[in-house]
Amino acid sequence: MTVPPTATSAAPGAPAVGAPVGAPRRPAPVRPPPPAPGGAPAAAAAAARVVARLRAAGCVFAEDEAALLLEAAGDDTAALETLVARRAAGEPLEHLLGWVELDGERWAVAPGVFVPRQRSLLLVAEAEAIGAAAHARRADGGPVLVDLCCGAGVLGAVVARRLARRGVRAALHAADVDPAATAVAARNVAPWAGSVTTGDLYAALPAGLRGRVDVLLCHAPYVPTAAIATMPPEAREHEPRVALDGGADGLDVVRRAVAGAPGWLAPGGALLFEVGEGQVAAATAAVAAAGLAPRVLRDDEAGALAVVGTAPAPDDADRDGTDLERTEGDGTEHTDGDAAGRRAGGAARA
Ligand SMILES: C[S@@+](CC[C@H](N)C(=O)[O-])C[C@H]1O[C@@H](n2cnc3c(N)ncnc32)[C@H](O)[C@@H]1O
Repeated sequence: MTVPPTATSAAPGAPAVGAPVGAPRRPAPVRPPPPAPGGAPAAAAAAARVVARLRAAGCVFAEDEAALLLEAAGDDTAALETLVARRAAGEPLEHLLGWVELDGERWAVAPGVFVPRQRSLLLVAEAEAIGAAAHARRADGGPVLVDLCCGAGVLGAVVARRLARRGVRAALHAADVDPAATAVAARNVAPWAGSVTTGDLYAALPAGLRGRVDVLLCHAPYVPTAAIATMPPEAREHEPRVALDGGADGLDVVRRAVAGAPGWLAPGGALLFEVGEGQVAAATAAVAAAGLAPRVLRDDEAGALAVVGTAPAPDDADRDGTDLERTEGDGTEHTDGDAAGRRAGGAARA
């Protein structure tokens, strides 16, 4: 998980790979705001006042954020005042807008729910590839895709949407322990006819999925407890603790997810999750101990680091080693993730 900068401290630039805190947020390309009463000069003056207030509050991308807040408020000056005041006080822009842009589309988010990050497109791209490969090798329909720790459900929905564009219809199941998250996820997942359930990790999944999951996406919390205090206020004060706190070394939830994965994965299916830079060795060891083949994915530009654990496939003995050839000597695959998706911008978290 990555976390955006505080509204008052961020500067543009690439985040450290896998850094659990402090990644910068890309500004939003905006649609032009509607003309204000009184015509263009009045609208320009109103916009300039909003920009000035946001800049005074320390917003790095004040112009972009002002345009988005103006768009959200429309002609309602009281609503605009409220939005600007809340943003100046440090509320995440996405919570105020009610949406985040990821992979070129706006998805619902809400106060009290984790805001999906652009760097998670690394997980999305790998999940799409694994889902497409599962579809190609299986004769019994589309791949089964689970978004565990789904938050707003955006990652699973993006993967399902990408697969659909390739003519692959995935069966999407999303689950999270937080009912506030699953309430939002239900909105994002609905177009993909996926199920959304609430509960602790695998306990929330339909039992019928055991042994059938091709793609087990699990962007769980992985910030060490002691590091929470160093996180930007936008995350620390406005995203739920359960979405951030991964326990003493950050891997409490991840370890449980890894240990349970073999019982749910289909042959050749894979678990995918994000980690921080200092967590790779422990995470890959846990994956191997669970009987899954670990791989590490890295996208330096996005500041993303992820681990994949693949269940043995029936034809493993016949494999040609293609995956290994893509992997460097340290077991890390370097990728540009989906730069086009990241560039899509919007009210987006880096
Ligand atoms: C870092 S957020 C990621 C959310 C979402 N996957 C995304 O990328 O936007 C972690 C999510 O894990 C959920 N979570 C934490 N512990 C959990 C558990 N034991 N079982 C299920 N979900 C859990 C949180 O509620 C939160 O929504």
